[in-house]
Amino acid sequence: MSRAVSVTYLVRSTAEALAAAAAGFVVEAAAAAVASRGVARIAISGGNTPKGMFSLLADRGQPFFAKMPWDKLHLFWVDERCVPPTDKDSNYRMTNEAMLAHVPLPAAQVHRMEGELEPEVAATRYEATLEAEFGPGMPVFDLVLLGMGDDGHTASLFPHTAALHEVKRHVVANHVLQKETWRITLTAPVINSGRAVAFEIQGEDKAPVIHDVFLGPYDPESKPSQLIRPESGALTLLLDQAAAAKLPAPASSSAAGVLELI
Ligand code: 6PG
Repeated sequence: MSRAVSVTYLVRSTAEALAAAAAGFVVEAAAAAVASRGVARIAISGGNTPKGMFSLLADRGQPFFAKMPWDKLHLFWVDERCVPPTDKDSNYRMTNEAMLAHVPLPAAQVHRMEGELEPEVAATRYEATLEAEFGPGMPVFDLVLLGMGDDGHTASLFPHTAALHEVKRHVVANHVLQKETWRITLTAPVINSGRAVAFEIQGEDKAPVIHDVFLGPYDPESKPSQLIRPESGALTLLLDQAAAAKLPAPASSSAAGVLELI
């Protein structure tokens, strides 16, 4: 049975405004974590959507760069394709080109999923990485930043794949038949343990799936993003207007919308 969650959604007029809102959200989460615990551990997604936000974080002319506690930030991935870090499909490569190559984040604080390895080896090694960084037991990220595919997947939790049912392991190799590929992914229990969990989603092609995930019947086998029900009871959506088109419009452009998932 899923747990009740209050979904707060912030809607920005354009993809550029969304990227700025996401950059601000990440910096605030990192600064709050450092203020509370002296370190910020954030898990990021790949794909296309986060690129704009990563570039803004790396831009010394933007307010985000100076506010990010780079020296106390540890970066992790939510998932990775099973390819080398130099491959065009690598989430690490995208992040490195958009941000890592331009910021003073120590290499030892960048925890890459080793997509070049055998999938199960990579998954097991990443579990060891999480244990080394978080200690034994459930890793609790300060922020887990997710995307959503138009098929309702998030991380590499794709519809009708084995990883959807994993409740014990923290990281698994997931065979994605529909893409004829393997992926490495955090499992839903780890994502749901995040102190803050947010989706950043843009584009009109995502409006239908956002509606189905948050307003449609509960069917996580077909819409795995419905597995994301944070233990904190809170979930944030950072959306552009196009992606938010099938959600109830917030009271005003500056207000947040709220959905109660029971
Ligand atoms: C990946 C991501 C994946 C992504 C969604 C949305 O490895 O591709 O982690 O979960 O967030 O597929 O991707 P876009 O942002 O490109 O639409």
